[in-house]
Amino acid sequence: MKVTVVGAGAVGATCADNIARKELAQELVLLDIKEGFAEGKAQDMMQTAALLGFDTRISGSTNDYSKTANSDVVVITSGLPRKPGMTREELIGTNAGIVKGVCENILKFSPNAIIIVISNPMDTMTYLALQSTGLAKNKIIGMGGTLDSARFKYQLSTTLNCSPSDLNALVVGGHGDTTMIPLIKHATWNSIPVTKFLDAAQQEKIINDTMVGGATLTKLLGTSAWYAPGAAGAALVESIVRDEKKLFTCCVSLNGEYGQKDICLGVPVVIGKNGWEKIVEMDLSSEEQAAFNKSADAVRNMNDVLKTL
Ligand code: 2OP
Repeated sequence: MKVTVVGAGAVGATCADNIARKELAQELVLLDIKEGFAEGKAQDMMQTAALLGFDTRISGSTNDYSKTANSDVVVITSGLPRKPGMTREELIGTNAGIVKGVCENILKFSPNAIIIVISNPMDTMTYLALQSTGLAKNKIIGMGGTLDSARFKYQLSTTLNCSPSDLNALVVGGHGDTTMIPLIKHATWNSIPVTKFLDAAQQEKIINDTMVGGATLTKLLGTSAWYAPGAAGAALVESIVRDEKKLFTCCVSLNGEYGQKDICLGVPVVIGKNGWEKIVEMDLSSEEQAAFNKSADAVRNMNDVLKTL
């Protein structure tokens, strides 16, 4: 297996680090536009191989896409991260051009790759990747819901004082502070509904804290978070390269599922060797479906901005 991570900033490097530690690829390429940056990060990571005991060969490249040739999976993290007080949506002007260029370059050398999009605004960048590559829709996966669901489990676990990995909880809809929908009524603690243990105020706080999870970290860190976004990208790579068929919320192209068309939005999907292999339809309450439709409207408005750039 060969995996490329485009963008050697904090998210890309963390994603690559996770991929190497788990030996998800024999060959891992880190690419960045900043001269020598990806090479430096790749070498630094390779110098952990003897200490951590992994056998993935990591190399860096300054914008030379020929080094990424024949990648099975490509993770796109390129673009500006948000600064405190910024929404993800404000990044569209700069990041759309960057992501489009990256997609074109990737396609030249890896026409069969599965692409995972992390760049923001993630739902619109996933839609853009689908449009600009013309790849089969199953090969384009936006990472947002995987991260947001992990953040939701974190918030639930701190209130319930339980292990995050004992929780089943999904965030669907867009990857925006106001567009994501943490489905608390469906969340369980090892199959017991979490709502049994949480009063209305606690539920509301968990939902709100999940929705602003990224913004809270951006304020604390002065830039966008990286550990969980990088780990979420690597978890998707793992399910693809090991054909695990795990269920994650990912941003994928909808064609009538959940009542939406011509949009990429976060829904539960099965991730395996073919990319996203199946959309899993849940029974949403009328309130949840209304929130999903509202989220779709906001993401569609953002997608419309692409036409003006
Ligand atoms: C976040 O929420 C990077 O969008 C990502 O932290």
